[in-house]
Amino acid sequence: MKQLKDKVIVITGASSGIGAAAARKLAALDAKLVLAARRDEQLKTLAAELGSNVYFQKTDVARQADVDALISETIRRFGRVDVLWNNAGVMPLSFFDEGKVGEWERMIDINLKGVLYGINAVLPHMLEKGSGHIVATSSVQGHKTLPGTGVYAGTKFAVRAIMETLREETAGKIKVTTIYPGLTATEFGNAAPSPKVQAAFGDFALYPKLEASAVADAFIYAISQPGNVAANDIILRPAEQTI
Ligand SMILES: NC(=O)c1ccc[n+]([C@@H]2O[C@H](COP(=O)([O-])OP(=O)(O)OC[C@H]3O[C@@H](n4cnc5c(N)ncnc54)[C@H](OP(=O)(O)O)[C@@H]3O)[C@@H](O)[C@H]2O)c1
Repeated sequence: MKQLKDKVIVITGASSGIGAAAARKLAALDAKLVLAARRDEQLKTLAAELGSNVYFQKTDVARQADVDALISETIRRFGRVDVLWNNAGVMPLSFFDEGKVGEWERMIDINLKGVLYGINAVLPHMLEKGSGHIVATSSVQGHKTLPGTGVYAGTKFAVRAIMETLREETAGKIKVTTIYPGLTATEFGNAAPSPKVQAAFGDFALYPKLEASAVADAFIYAISQPGNVAANDIILRPAEQTI
């Protein structure tokens, strides 16, 4: 895939799961990568594994200053940002009557405001250079809700609305893609579920899942499209998933 060689690609949520899987594939394609997350020890290990085209920066996407610094350091180091993937996210599911307001706020700060900070940090740069690609990870839960997923789905529906509007506003200037994965085998959902979620869903470990590499492949498909081809929305599920 020659077209990704030397592309400057920033990935948030790159310390594990889908983001780390994409980093591994893209490094093999000779892209220039900037990996972001809070756990910089994981990023450091991954960057060392992937070679000299890979830089990492400790970033909390819930902090606007961190996201601004991520983009400005990428431009300082590599001269430009070709692709920003707003992929970081968390999913502490609960029912509304469990009253986990702190977790609602965490999901809004990371899954929603983190995406907005990414767009805000990179959009002027991409518009000025007349090209670029902004990608976000929503979820199948950005298309349908289930009891216990209200705030998580709320953030992922919002990402869908934000990205679609961004597409409308920037059509012909930059490309915009939203990826909607179904259940995927990552560290996601490893945290102990709330009692009601546990009762409603049982053991998430037993559900069929995509490999993280399948979602990474969807990202690579989107950013490899030529010229005026824009892959705007990609939904992918494990074939057995009913929701
Ligand atoms: N796995 C699934 O079933 C599934 C399904 C649909 C959608 N998704 C979406 O896929 C995306 C990636 O998740 P994953 O499945 O790969 O799970 P994961 O292995 O838990 O990865 C989540 C990533 O987000 C990062 N992150 C969390 N909070 C952050 C913050 N405040 N600032 C910066 N980075 C932060 C984590 O890094 P640190 O903890 O080091 O910061 C980690 O790298 C998420 O947006 C998620 O909503 C996942």
